[in-house]
Amino acid sequence: MPATTPPKTFHVKSFGCQMNVYDGERMAELLTAKGMTSASEREDADLVVLNTCHIRERATEKVYSDIGRLRRDDGTTPIIAVAGCVAQAEGSEIMARAPSVRVVVGPQAYHRLPEMVAQAAAGGRVTETDMPAEAKFAALPKRRRSGPSAFLTIQEGCDKFCTYCVVPYTRGAEISRPFADLVDEARLLVEGGAREITLLGQNVNAWAGEDDKGRATGLAGLAEELAKLPDLARIRYTTSHPADMDDALIAAHSSNEKLMPFLHLPVQSGNDRVLKAMNRSHTAEGYLRLLDRVRAGRPDIAISGDFIVGFPGETEAEFEDTLRIIDAVGYAQAFSFKYSPRPGTPAATMDGQVCGEVMDERLQRLQSALHRHSQAFNQTTIGRRCTVLVDRKGRQPGQMLGKSPWLQSVYFTGDAAIGDLVEVDMIEAWPNSVAGKLAA
Ligand code: SAH
Ligand code: SF4
Ligand code: F3S
Repeated sequence: MPATTPPKTFHVKSFGCQMNVYDGERMAELLTAKGMTSASEREDADLVVLNTCHIRERATEKVYSDIGRLRRDDGTTPIIAVAGCVAQAEGSEIMARAPSVRVVVGPQAYHRLPEMVAQAAAGGRVTETDMPAEAKFAALPKRRRSGPSAFLTIQEGCDKFCTYCVVPYTRGAEISRPFADLVDEARLLVEGGAREITLLGQNVNAWAGEDDKGRATGLAGLAEELAKLPDLARIRYTTSHPADMDDALIAAHSSNEKLMPFLHLPVQSGNDRVLKAMNRSHTAEGYLRLLDRVRAGRPDIAISGDFIVGFPGETEAEFEDTLRIIDAVGYAQAFSFKYSPRPGTPAATMDGQVCGEVMDERLQRLQSALHRHSQAFNQTTIGRRCTVLVDRKGRQPGQMLGKSPWLQSVYFTGDAAIGDLVEVDMIEAWPNSVAGKLAA
C-alpha cells in the first residue's frame, strides 16, 4: 500500500446494538482529541470507520457491500478501518477479502485506533483484536458533550453462551466497569447536557461492583447512586437477562423514582424444549413468574422483548407457544428476528434447520401479534398526562418528538426545545408512537 498523508477528517458509522453506538461515540471523541474533525458525509472523510455487527448473517454481509461502496469515482478510497464485532470475529478474512481495508480493530482495542491509523497512513495494514480487560476505558478521553439522552456502557461481554449467539465470542467474557469510573462518567455526561442516561451492557443486570464504601453492589445500587445527580432526570438500562434479574433490581423499580418504568427482558421463545436447546437457562413459566414479581412492584411497567423464530427443530406447535407467551405478557415493544446460523455457534450445526418460507411465515404471524400488543399498550396510556423528554424535531413544522417514561415515541406541536422535559397529554395511540398535546 502506498503511503498517504495523515487523515484530517473522519466518519464513524455504527451498526448493530446500542453498545456499538456508544463505542462509535467514544471512537469519534478519541479521533477528535487527536486533532481530527468529523465529516458529516462519509464521501468527504479521509478516514472511514465501519463499526460493525456480527449478530446475523445480513448484518455481516453489509460490511462487505459498504466497503465496496467507499471506492471513489477516481478509483481511490479513504483509509478504511473495520471495527466492532465483525472485526473481532473475521479480522483476517476481511484483510484477505478486502484489500482496501487498512485497519482492523476489535471492540476491546479501539483505544489504539489513532496509532493504528497513523501506521496505515504510512502505508501499513494493521490488525488488533486482543481483549485486554478494561485497558480501553482508562485510555479514552473524558466525556465532554452529550445530547439529552446519553448511553453509558457499564458492563461488557457475555458468559451465557446461548447456542445461537456470537456475542460471547466477539465481546469476550463478562466484565463490569468500576463503580467510581461510572459515577464519574455519568457526572460528566450530565454536565455535558444529558438529562437521561441509559446504562448499557450485553447483560447489563449482571453488572457487579463495590460502592464508594467498599460494599458489594449490583445494578440497583449503581442506579441509586446515579439518581443522586441533581440534573439527571431519568435512568434506563438495557439489555437484561432473566437469570440476572435480582430482588434489589426489582425493588428499585418501585423505590428509585428516576428509574424509568421500562424493562427490556428478552425471552426468545415461549417453548421450554426450544429454550433448553437455546441454552437460555429459564423456562417460559419461570419468565412469566419473574414478570409477575416485577409488575407487583411497578404495575405500569412497559415490558419489551426479543424473539427468534425458526430456531433449529422448532415445530409449528412450539412456535405457537411463543405466540401464547406474547399474549400472556402483552409486550409494549419488541424486536423479532429469523434465526440466522452463525459460524462457530452450536446451533449452526444442529439438526432440523428450518426453511426460509416457514421462517418468513412465522415471523409475519409473530410480528402481527406484537403489533397488536404495542397498539394496545399505547392505548392504555391515552388520557394520561406524562413527562416527555424532547429529543428531536418532527417532520411537520413546529412538531417535536420525545420519549414518555415508557419509552414511547410521543409527538406534539408546540413550543419546546430539544432537551426539555415537558408535560404532555396523551391523545391518540399508534403501534409505534403516540400523538400528544402540550399541557398548558
Ligand atoms: N444480550 C442480549 C441481546 C443480544 S443480541 C440478550 O441476551 O437478550 C440481540 C438479539 O438478537 C437477541 O436477543 C436475539 O433475539 C437476537 N439474536 C442473537 N443471535 C441471533 C441469531 N443467530 N439469529 C437470529 N437472532 C439472533
Ligand atoms: Fe447472546 Fe445469550 Fe449472551 Fe444475550 S445472553 S448476548 S443472546 S449469548
Ligand atoms: Fe452486533 Fe456485536 Fe452488538 S454482534 S448486536 S454489535 S455486541
